[in-house]
Amino acid sequence: MAKKKMIHDFYRMKEAGEKITWLTCYDFPTAQFEEAAGVDMILVGDSMGMCVYGYESTVPVTMDQCMVHCEAVRRGAPNTFVMGDMPFMSYHKSDADAVVNAGRFLKEAGVDAIKLEGGKRVISRIQAILDAGIVVCGHIGLTPQSSGQLGGHKAQGRTAESAQLVIEDALAIEEAGAHMILLEAVPPEVTAFITRKLSIPVLSIGAGLECDGQLLIVSDMIGQFQAFTPKFVKKYANVSEIITDAMKQYCEEVRSGSFPADEHCYHMLKGEDQKFKEMIKKYE
Ligand code: KIV
Repeated sequence: MAKKKMIHDFYRMKEAGEKITWLTCYDFPTAQFEEAAGVDMILVGDSMGMCVYGYESTVPVTMDQCMVHCEAVRRGAPNTFVMGDMPFMSYHKSDADAVVNAGRFLKEAGVDAIKLEGGKRVISRIQAILDAGIVVCGHIGLTPQSSGQLGGHKAQGRTAESAQLVIEDALAIEEAGAHMILLEAVPPEVTAFITRKLSIPVLSIGAGLECDGQLLIVSDMIGQFQAFTPKFVKKYANVSEIITDAMKQYCEEVRSGSFPADEHCYHMLKGEDQKFKEMIKKYE
């Protein structure tokens, strides 16, 4: 089994030009698959709101839900770097609140790091969490928790003026001492510039190739999430079709009486069938 990677391994990978692979995950069996596949990092994203709970956005996700899913993922991938995603309103009120909630991810769920959305506006939160000794990833560009202010789930940094805001957020996050940055839905030119400029790993979801690694939402890339597919998603499988076909076949076989077959049954022990026939006579 490969050794669990930690933050210094990701710094080394950036220096060596080795790409970091990252997927979201929300449950125990998928975590086992991801670890077996050799994924470098797992994000227990607040995208669970849509992918697991069927909410319309990530906003309703609670700390308690995050704890349950992080614990399950931790159990399924004990040798993979797991990151918890701080949900809406878990770090917005105060630095003290942010530290308590970030700490819950480590104490209760045993994750290795946390991620929070925002650049300059959350710098004091990042510093407070870092002061508690926690590994922090900043998330900028399209930040779904504040998509209302961004005018919806829209790519960011597509004008020079907007790209400057993304760059300034990235610089502020690195200066605050964060360990890595995730860029979501920004142009590849902006990503390439930020990746060259920063010494910490810069990861992309929908932000192009020229960076230190890629993240995808597992439910998108295996074709499980049906509601919508962002432009940056590549579907590597269509498990919805496989699962639905299996379920349709099961229904057909139950209705036609071809399931269960003899091999799926527990027969009576040798010699007991005769005794059984005698025994039930009194009930006939
Ligand atoms: O929750 C999540 O999966 C995320 C990604 C969209 C970056 O934050």
